[in-house]
Amino acid sequence: MTNFTSASEQMNVETDIITLTRFILEEQKNFAPTATGELTLLLNALQFAFKFIAHNIRRAELINLIGVSGSANSTGDVQKKLDVIGDEIFINAMKSSGNVKVLVSEEQDDLIVFEGGGRYAVCTDPIDGSSNIDAGVSVGTIFGVYKLKDDSNGSINDVLRKGSEMVVAGYTMYGASTHLMLTTGHGVNGFTLDTQLGEFILTQPNLVIPQSRAIYSFNEGNSYYWPKYVQKYVEDLKKPQESTGKPYSSRYIGSMVADVHRTLLYGGIFAYPADSKSKNGKLRILYECFPMAMLMEQAGGACVNDKGERILDLLPKGIHDKSGIWMGSKGEVDRFVKYIE
Ligand code: AHG
Ligand code: MN
Ligand code: MN
Repeated sequence: MTNFTSASEQMNVETDIITLTRFILEEQKNFAPTATGELTLLLNALQFAFKFIAHNIRRAELINLIGVSGSANSTGDVQKKLDVIGDEIFINAMKSSGNVKVLVSEEQDDLIVFEGGGRYAVCTDPIDGSSNIDAGVSVGTIFGVYKLKDDSNGSINDVLRKGSEMVVAGYTMYGASTHLMLTTGHGVNGFTLDTQLGEFILTQPNLVIPQSRAIYSFNEGNSYYWPKYVQKYVEDLKKPQESTGKPYSSRYIGSMVADVHRTLLYGGIFAYPADSKSKNGKLRILYECFPMAMLMEQAGGACVNDKGERILDLLPKGIHDKSGIWMGSKGEVDRFVKYIE
């Protein structure tokens, strides 16, 4: 089919944009022709949740949502008001989709099993990076999706599984613009929310992370507690490198979504090491480590724990289990792995 671009080219108007909805339907046609359309409906419910959360974050300062809500979640974090609102928006969007049976949220102590017959389990960090929210730093929603096991009616066994069994993963970052990074197992695609249209528009098709980049992203405030091999690895990054004569640059925002977004686009390595203080690190396996690991690998990067084991091969025992995590350009992760004793 010829697409009509001559007139619009002269006026520099794009007349053949790919919305997320159109993209999902094309993916379904290309990769899952026998699909029932359930995953398409689920992705539409997810994108509604992102639009609604983005709307509330944009208005937060105006309607005074900034600041703490006074309650605390299962891991003891003091919840910001937007944590609570983001969580409720997400739960309602998943429940009303009719496609989700099981939901794990950072903000919910226990698993949620919905009435009805959905065939998907969703794991989410509704608002990641909320400690930064009062300072206007980008925060985001992280999500990972499992298809229920064939014989399951929805239980914890649908989510205490390897990350390699996730069928969809991604994040939406609420920054200057609202940016969705998505994988359904066939590469990574980036979408930007056009607030006038109310549609996510494909802006970064088939994103590939650079093979290497002299950027490291860790909270060095924890370095006293790091194992010796981690300290040696970081010290060597700070020396002038043979190839460039310059040391690595340090970039750390403190919101995982923002640090991972920069790493996907620029390359480099992001890490939250397990150490003598945190024991298993700080980031949660099901709704921070697994989704970001799937995105990184689908973009041609790598993601391992402190022993160099592939994150997606880990098997969590609890829905809020944590792991140390090292992810980013394949060349950078391979360099780190060489230091592991
Ligand atoms: P959350 O806001 O969902 O609790 O996640 C915060 C996490 C993650 O976003 C970030 O990478 C990490 O906390 C930063 O931790 P430090 O402040 O200890 O560096
Ligand atoms: Mn988080
Ligand atoms: Mn969170």
